[in-house]
Amino acid sequence: MKVYLETLGCQMNRLDSELVAGSLRAAGHELTDDRQAADVVLYNTCSVRRHAEQKVHSRLGADGQRKTAHHPRLIVGVLGCMAQREGETLRRKHPHVDIVCGPGQIHALAEMIDAAAAGRASVALDPSRTAPRNETAETRMDELDLGRDVAAGESGAQAFVRVARGCDNFCSYCIVPYVRGPERSRDPQHIVTETHRLVDAGRSEITLLGQTVNAYCWQTGETTVRFSDLLQRVSEIPGLRRLRFVTSHPQRFGDDVLEAMRDLPNVCEYIHCPAQSGSDAMLAAMNRGYSRGEYDDLVDRARAIVPGVVLAGDFIVGFPGETEEDHTASAELIRRSGYKNCFVFKYSPRPGTLAARSLSDDVPVAVKKRRNNELLAVQAEVGLAHHRAYVGRPV
Ligand code: 5AD
Ligand code: SF4
Repeated sequence: MKVYLETLGCQMNRLDSELVAGSLRAAGHELTDDRQAADVVLYNTCSVRRHAEQKVHSRLGADGQRKTAHHPRLIVGVLGCMAQREGETLRRKHPHVDIVCGPGQIHALAEMIDAAAAGRASVALDPSRTAPRNETAETRMDELDLGRDVAAGESGAQAFVRVARGCDNFCSYCIVPYVRGPERSRDPQHIVTETHRLVDAGRSEITLLGQTVNAYCWQTGETTVRFSDLLQRVSEIPGLRRLRFVTSHPQRFGDDVLEAMRDLPNVCEYIHCPAQSGSDAMLAAMNRGYSRGEYDDLVDRARAIVPGVVLAGDFIVGFPGETEEDHTASAELIRRSGYKNCFVFKYSPRPGTLAARSLSDDVPVAVKKRRNNELLAVQAEVGLAHHRAYVGRPV
């Protein structure tokens, strides 16, 4: 069948989509960029902000019309975070949806497509955080990563490699711990084997992925493999020219990782380490687990240990209760940190999160927009200094 697969959201989703595409090709399907010509339409969705979910709802509405009017055998599937968050509700809102597949169930997608072709819908969700782990599904997910089609990436020499799934941080605004489940690190040997295969296939720039990548930790018997140890092991793979990692959490950023970055020649001196806010009051309300002073200290340590280090960040504007002073503190943090680039997001309450349950979304939309633009303007100025420094410099 002809499969159209659209990906929204983060790098983790881009990786999941690459694995899904590979597994569907292996099952004999053909991928197409033309949604109107597809027999199977799949959305790998994001729940981090409401906007991404609205986009999927509108796509699903249009697919429903096409199915009714022209293509009764069209198969429609929703994968990823929004599938996990909404579950059965998605099929109540859009009865023509055949597949609802949580992020930890994508290993079985080809079977779900076969079932849909035979007229059977599938709703496959990950167990809730408190339910026992589904070891079989987790093993199959790891096999999906390990057995991936290494030549099939969209982005040439670049490839993502997962080092951990899930998150245990529960930042008060964030849906990720609910939809991606608890934090689980992968066996370092599997990570090395997978990276080796990718590099051998010519994908010489590798980005290690985890929701809080620097929290990576693998324990067997007496030995503990920390993130810095993993960097060391992966960096030794012959032919690996650039090694990157995203996203780091400021609270867990030890000097060992900075020293590995300094000492390992193929590890890029680039740290994406979101601050989210420059104000202590907001950081506490966001449940980020660090203060402004501790974040400043991390920036100072990074600059002291890693020559030429480049920093990048994320900020949320208009979190509940954010005052002009809090906002000014974020702008000031952008200047102090001297980021190369920053992603700025308007706060979007996500149902079920701590913030959505206990705090009112009290910053008006117009104020969020203005603060968003103001932070972007400061970042543009700060980023320009980085770009200027490269003028005339061969790289
Ligand atoms: N509203 C706005 N931005 C959010 N992010 C995560 N959750 C929300 C939310 N509810 C942002 C954070 C995170 C990035 C991936 O998305 O800045 O680092
Ligand atoms: Fe969300 Fe915080 Fe986990 Fe990042 S660290 S995924 S923002 S809960």
